[in-house]
Amino acid sequence: MSAKYKVIQWATGVVGSTALGGVLRHPKLELVGVKVYSPKKNGLDAGDIAGTDKTGIIATQDVDELLALDADCVLYCPLRWKTEEICQLLEAGLHVITPCPYWFPYLQNPEAAQAIEAACKKGNVNLHASGCNPGGIAERFPLTFTGWCNRIDRITMTECGDCRTYSSEGVMRHLMNLGKTPEQAERNPIKEALAKSWNEPIDMIAEGLGSRVVSYEAHHDYILANQPIETAVGIIEEGTIALNHYRHIGITAEGTEIVQEQIWYVDDREQTRLQRKMDIPRQSGWRIKLEGDVNLNIDIDFPSELNQDERVAQGLSTTAFHIVNAIPLVCEAPNPGLKTYLDLPMVTGCMGTHSARS
Ligand SMILES: NC(=O)c1ccc[n+]([C@@H]2O[C@H](COP(=O)([O-])OP(=O)(O)OC[C@H]3O[C@@H](n4cnc5c(N)ncnc54)[C@H](OP(=O)(O)O)[C@@H]3O)[C@@H](O)[C@H]2O)c1
Repeated sequence: MSAKYKVIQWATGVVGSTALGGVLRHPKLELVGVKVYSPKKNGLDAGDIAGTDKTGIIATQDVDELLALDADCVLYCPLRWKTEEICQLLEAGLHVITPCPYWFPYLQNPEAAQAIEAACKKGNVNLHASGCNPGGIAERFPLTFTGWCNRIDRITMTECGDCRTYSSEGVMRHLMNLGKTPEQAERNPIKEALAKSWNEPIDMIAEGLGSRVVSYEAHHDYILANQPIETAVGIIEEGTIALNHYRHIGITAEGTEIVQEQIWYVDDREQTRLQRKMDIPRQSGWRIKLEGDVNLNIDIDFPSELNQDERVAQGLSTTAFHIVNAIPLVCEAPNPGLKTYLDLPMVTGCMGTHSARS
């Protein structure tokens, strides 16, 4: 085993470029390669992409070049993930850690789960999907708090996000449907993948509780813009979707409801730019609510002195740093295969020589 884990950063968008900076600072990690899609980034020094000093590691579009690097793992952060590509990396003997699916694919995506398990065995490596939500709020943190409870009637995870400064066009317009007409959103093929992405953490919670989900529900409400709204990915036009309210619900054999709720929008809490208002619990942030014999509201928020840009950036940093911090545990986990939070020890931060006073 190497003294430091050798890491390839795969894709350098909002999440990937922050993860890149996290790898460069992490005392147990060594950056050895960077895969980019953009021709403009091809040939750049990793430091120029991450906003740090030069590193001598040059970004490339050439996958063969990256596979020849003798790396330990890949932080796989592309806009569109491909199961075959993930399997190719695993079979080549590279651990994969990603903010993309698959968090707990055994029931929602059994074919992908089988392919990944087989590729892990072949390459003698592990895959772990992490992130903020899914990958944290949706399953890791609620499962932790279920340890404080006995009878559990309902677990609700709510994410509220004023996304106006999120600069990923793909996530904002394609995945979140912001700026689409209701008809376009209804026809968006991402709809099924989105439901599976929220049902995977629901299944993981049920499994963690020693149960199983017997029925699933999906609800999608939206509110249209009453005027053009400026965002980091351009104008969201009047009459297109400016607020999405998603609820994916799983009900276990015992009747426990597991609810994944997102309110993604492009306005402030006053909602003067929307055709109607809904009760948005908070501008941005998360609530994990457990109901049963113990009733808990766990609110995760940013300090009020942070401006909106900083809140969005730090929210996305949690995804990036969660995957970075998971690397040593994933590389060390025994029995090659797909590793969920139910398989891994607790993922923590790692300061090393990074002084809090500097
Ligand atoms: N689990 C979570 O909590 C969580 C949170 C946020 C995001 N995510 C996921 O993480 C991934 C990255 O998000 P992001 O915010 O960083 O998105 P982003 O800013 O749009 O970056 C995605 C990057 O993917 C690369 N790319 C471009 N075209 C591509 C294509 N056709 N196929 C594959 N990749 C392409 C580009 O890399 P280069 O710039 O290097 O060329 C681009 O910058 C997304 O899949 C998103 O859904 C998960």
